[in-house]
This record gives sequence, C-alpha cells and structure tokens, in this order.
Amino acid sequence: MHPYTKKYIPEKSSDIIGQDAALKELKDFVINFKRKKNKAALLYGPSGTGKTGSVYAIANELGLEILEVNASDFRNAEQIDSRAGMAAGQQSLFFKSKIILVDEVDGLSGTQDRGGIQAIIKLVEKSAFPIILTAMNPWDHKFAALRRKSNMVEFQPLDANSIFRILKKICDEEKIKHEEEVLKGLARRSAGDARAAINDLQTLTIEKNELTKESLEELHERNKVDSIINALIKIFRTTDPKIALSAFENVEENLDEQLLWIDENLPREYTKAEDLANAYDKLSKADVFSRRIRRWQHYRFLVYINELITAGIALSKEKKYEHHVQYKPTGKLLKLWWAKQKSMKKMAIAEKIAEKTHTSKKKALQNTLPYMQVAFKKNKEFRENFIREMDLGEEEIEWLKK
Ligand SMILES: Nc1ncnc2c1ncn2[C@@H]1O[C@H](COP(=O)(O)OP(=O)(O)OP(=O)(O)O)[C@@H](O)[C@H]1O
Ligand SMILES: [Mg+2]
Repeated sequence: MHPYTKKYIPEKSSDIIGQDAALKELKDFVINFKRKKNKAALLYGPSGTGKTGSVYAIANELGLEILEVNASDFRNAEQIDSRAGMAAGQQSLFFKSKIILVDEVDGLSGTQDRGGIQAIIKLVEKSAFPIILTAMNPWDHKFAALRRKSNMVEFQPLDANSIFRILKKICDEEKIKHEEEVLKGLARRSAGDARAAINDLQTLTIEKNELTKESLEELHERNKVDSIINALIKIFRTTDPKIALSAFENVEENLDEQLLWIDENLPREYTKAEDLANAYDKLSKADVFSRRIRRWQHYRFLVYINELITAGIALSKEKKYEHHVQYKPTGKLLKLWWAKQKSMKKMAIAEKIAEKTHTSKKKALQNTLPYMQVAFKKNKEFRENFIREMDLGEEEIEWLKK
C-alpha cells in the first residue's frame, strides 16, 4: 500500500495549502540567504502542517539540493562534522547549491542532548548554505540560543477549509466517492493536522473507494478511545497532581463513562492492595457526588469529582508502578479497542526499525514501515532477515503478515 501522504507530497509551493505567510518568509530566507544575519530558519508549528513539505517544495522549485541531517546525529559531534560540517563549509563551484535540513530538532531536548544543540549552533555559525530546522515546539529554554540565531517561521494549524481542499484534491485524483459534507466533517475533525486527515481518509476508504458517513462516525469513536486512554495514563502513571488534574481536559466522554473507564482499569494498574483501596475510596466518593448532582442538580460538585478522580487517584499510590499494562474499555468499545491494539504492535515494530536505522520513530512509522511490510509479505529472504535483525516476536510477525 502506498501511503497518500507520500504519494501526494507537495512538489512545488503552490501545492502547499494555507501557509502563504510562512512560505513567503521561507522563500525569502533561502533566496536572500547571503544577506541574512541569521543563517538558519527555524520552522515551527504543529504536526502535519507542511513544515517538512515546504522545504522540499521550495528546494524543488529553486533547483536546490537538500542535504538532510538527522537531529539525533548531532549527539555525536564527530559524526556531524564529517557529514553536515563539511558540506556546510564547502563552497562548491561545481555542484548544485544546497539547503541543509535538520528535521525535528525538538527530538533533542534532554540534558544529554545539550551538546547536540550546541553542535547545531556551531553548524549554523559557519554554514555557507541556508540551514533549515523544523520543530513542533521550539520554546523549550534549551533552544533559546538556537532561536536567537534563527529566523523564526511559524506554521499555523491548518484551518478546516484548507484541509478540505487538500483532501478534495486527493479524492478527485483517486476517484474516491464522497459527499462534500462528510469530507468537510473529516477535515474539521483533524484539528489542523493535514497528515492525520490524509491518513484518516486513506484508512476509511481502503476497502471500497468511498467515504461514508458511517465510517466517519466510527473513526470518531476510535479517536475518543485514544483520548480517554491518554487521560488514564495521565492519572495512573503520575504522582504529580498538576499533570493528573488536566487529564480529562480534552476528553469528550461524559462523567459516567469516565468513572466506568477508571473503574475498569484501576485494578490493572494499581496492584498493591493499599493503593487500590485508597483509589477506590476516591472513586466511590466521586460516585456519591455524581449521584447528588443528578438528584439535586448540585453542579458545583463537578469540580470535586474531577479532583477526586484525577489528582485524588493519582496520589492514592505510594509510588509509580514500573509495570506496563494496557488499558481496556468496557463493553461496546471493546471492538474498537482491538483495532487500537493492532496499531500498538505497529508502533512497537516502528520503534525497532527506528533504532536500527537511526531515524525517529515517527519517520519509521510514516516512511519505512509501509514498504517494509510489503517486502515482508512478498519476499521470503527479506522476511527471514528482517525477523532476525529486528528481533521480532510472534505477535509482531503476525501483524506484519496481515
Ligand atoms: N499545508 C499543506 N498543504 C498541502 N499538503 C500538506 C500540508 N501540510 C501537510 N500536508 C500533507 O501532509 C503530509 C505531511 O506534511 P509535512 O511532512 O510537511 O508535515 P510537518 O509539518 O513536517 O509535520 P511534522 O511536524 O509531524 O513533521 C505531506 O506529505 C502532505 O501530503
Ligand atoms: Mg516534518
């Protein structure tokens, strides 16, 4: 299967929708690079908004070569000197001019990566070529010095209309049957992330080249499951009340469902009797409040309920558990949960690929895995080598075969 996000990678700047201001700044930086004080541009903004795509589109248009360097390579200063360092210093008369792209620098944020950021700054200072960096969140104080050396270019979350245009183009190319309204619904749900929207479109139409209202609703349910599982992680796996308190902030599930989810999964996570007793004490108090609200409409109790089931439960444990359990929904959501489990296997495999090939997990997931899976199915030799190299388990092998 060819992912649409690869097939429809923007080739020229007019293919990039809804980022006119950012594109203009970026182009200006690349064209007038020699006259710029700061020799880097830092493209920042949420995932799937066209940061990486814009760099490739502009380079393509201006006939520039891209030298892509992995942010993680900067951890090892020697490696970087041999690759980007040399390229950056060389003013070649014979070769195409180039752009140096360091994608996803915010992968470097731990203390051990401070040297890596330092190495990037050094590269920026001596580069004879424009350096473009991308990041989702460049505001960590560790990036302060890098920010000062860079032209900051903001990519906004895409509005629903831009995403609709992107999706519409793909539907027309692929002859996907659809109602405009449903496609608009899909665009609205993507929260400004074009990649997510395109991937959703592909998943939903994989079986019969048609986007239906029903499949869109099912997707919505699936996303709801994801968001509540994230909420549970925030509560169960932390002892920081601040983190826990925000757990249900973006969860659509109503209070009753929240209580059910916690009830169902609490004993999976809290295996010490005392922790469990403490936590159930909070949960039952929350339940009492919730019945009072229903009976007497005492809505101000809602605040207490939220505190009890988030910070209250988070602090009911003596310390964080080391084990890794998977949370499960109740009843009707079970089917959707299974779909999610499959994607967890995918994540596990992507992680292994990332490690072996020295890329980010995200890149492995988006770029490498889809092809590996095809090769895995088709080529016996590849399959055997791959299993050995990646040290795959039974379940992972099963997943790849499907
Ligand atoms: N503004 C856009 N116009 C057209 N297509 C887009 C746009 N933004 C994203 N896409 C589509 O989504 C895919 C992913 O976009 P891209 O790799 O540029 O995102 P990104 O901003 O670099 O995200 P991340 O921070 O996750 O790396 C592209 O291949 C393209 O198909
Ligand atoms: Mg990117």
